[in-house]
Amino acid sequence: MIPPPEILLVEDDPGIAAALGKELQAEGYRVTVATRGDDGLTHARHHRLDVVITDLKLPGLSGLDLVAQLRAAKPKLPIILMTAFGSTETAIEATKQGAFDYLLKPFDVTELLDLVSKAVASSRLMSEPLEIGRAGPSQSGIIGTSRAMQSIYKEIGRVAATAVTVLLRGETGTGKELVARAIYQHSQRAAQPFIAVHCAAIPETLLESELFGHERGAYTGAHVRRIGRFEQAHRGTIFLDEIGDLSPSTQVKLLRVLQERYVQRVGGNEKIPVDVRVLAATHRDLESAMREHQFREDLFYRLSGVTIVLPPLAQRTEDIPELVRYFLHRAGLELDVDSPAIQPEALALLQDLPWPGNVRQLENVVRQSLLLSRGYPIGLEHVRQADARARRPVSTAEHTFASYCTELLARAQQGELADARARMIEDVERELFTRACHLAQGNQVRIARWLGVTRTTVREKLVHFGLHATSASPPRPSTPPRNRRNPAGPPPSRSPVAPMAHQRPG
Ligand SMILES: Nc1ncnc2c1ncn2[C@@H]1O[C@H](COP(=O)(O)OP(=O)(O)OP(=O)(O)O)[C@@H](O)[C@H]1O
Ligand SMILES: [Mg+2]
Repeated sequence: MIPPPEILLVEDDPGIAAALGKELQAEGYRVTVATRGDDGLTHARHHRLDVVITDLKLPGLSGLDLVAQLRAAKPKLPIILMTAFGSTETAIEATKQGAFDYLLKPFDVTELLDLVSKAVASSRLMSEPLEIGRAGPSQSGIIGTSRAMQSIYKEIGRVAATAVTVLLRGETGTGKELVARAIYQHSQRAAQPFIAVHCAAIPETLLESELFGHERGAYTGAHVRRIGRFEQAHRGTIFLDEIGDLSPSTQVKLLRVLQERYVQRVGGNEKIPVDVRVLAATHRDLESAMREHQFREDLFYRLSGVTIVLPPLAQRTEDIPELVRYFLHRAGLELDVDSPAIQPEALALLQDLPWPGNVRQLENVVRQSLLLSRGYPIGLEHVRQADARARRPVSTAEHTFASYCTELLARAQQGELADARARMIEDVERELFTRACHLAQGNQVRIARWLGVTRTTVREKLVHFGLHATSASPPRPSTPPRNRRNPAGPPPSRSPVAPMAHQRPG
């Protein structure tokens, strides 16, 4: 089993601490409570943690000092601040110092869970070691020994230690994000934060403020100042994913940041120097986007100091058996299946199938096959069924919803289908959950809110459709705490919130 994420909650009000602790535990996190700032700091120094949540006003050491000292000791540990409206400025100051984010009291608990799950994802991205060319017993890795992959490893080695901007290109699901993480982990900035921004997942109107921050009153609704991701990534690395989707206006601003090495918050004049290494990725054909004037040439040349192109899986089919073994092992851990196995003919089929969705699609089909095989070795039938599910699109421009229904009914008339209605609901739900999961970057709290269903339903559906809680869109070894990974399994143990070993009186 993968250990649940560890959270330190620093809060001096025992009632609030107990209530929040309970909510976090119900999500599968392991929670330790400290009631004083200095105790929190001591605990954080000596224990492995994924996230710290802290109140701003604390006895012993203020939340702001806690942030400063933790940043010095553990720069990659995400810290979430809880603050009353009166001290918003202080919280903003803390995000400048590198705190992950802050919440204004009173907040809805789903807001906190939402942030925590993002912070855990970010923490794991930074700290889970990524082996190049293989995977350790409990580690993730970039798998593949094909020539194509070996030359990728060489390129990673060449660029990692430099400060050069790297543009990662390749079809969807080929491993661009994985390579970005590998470059970061082997860079001189590996001890500093790695901040990933999924440009396509953020509405255009919010993206500039996400990247560059905004001043108070910059636009309607901007009640307080906001520190952007570039400022937060100071001295570290920023990963701009889906860079091909940037609007023309954001492209201009990004180009300026890359050229001048300072940011200006939206609605502000101050030039804030930033020292950030930029990694970018896209699956888009930037050359034709440039011809059509949708992507700026100057930005393209700025970004592509070095370009690494990830080959489609079809060009490295010899890596498939090793990838399948790796994904089986991981899926077995997540779904609680002991020593998952696959029959040779099923493996051979996986090697023969086309993989338009590349490694991600292979990973999904392996997971789905494992679910279908119910603990027995995966056979041909399981692979065929899982593959058919993964490939069936509901509606594309040519294949509209109406014609989809007509087709279903035709099949029902011919006696091919006995459950047209159930089939349609299943197809629609798969599409809806897949897209929501991608857009929410796997965040179950958000998916539940958008679709108007409970979090339990979200968990069940993600497993049912073989979707990763976190990686319907990339970040791999990220969020899901234990009970999300295996909703079919036993509920997480609800041990009481662990108090700190040494609490001072008062
Ligand atoms: N060589 C590999 N070894 C192990 N896992 C891989 C490899 N390549 C990709 N994966 C896995 O496949 C999934 C997709 O990879 P990743 O997110 O890096 O792709 P991507 O190129 O960023 O795709 P997209 O363009 O759709 O964002 C992830 O779960 C990743 O861990
Ligand atoms: Mg990606």
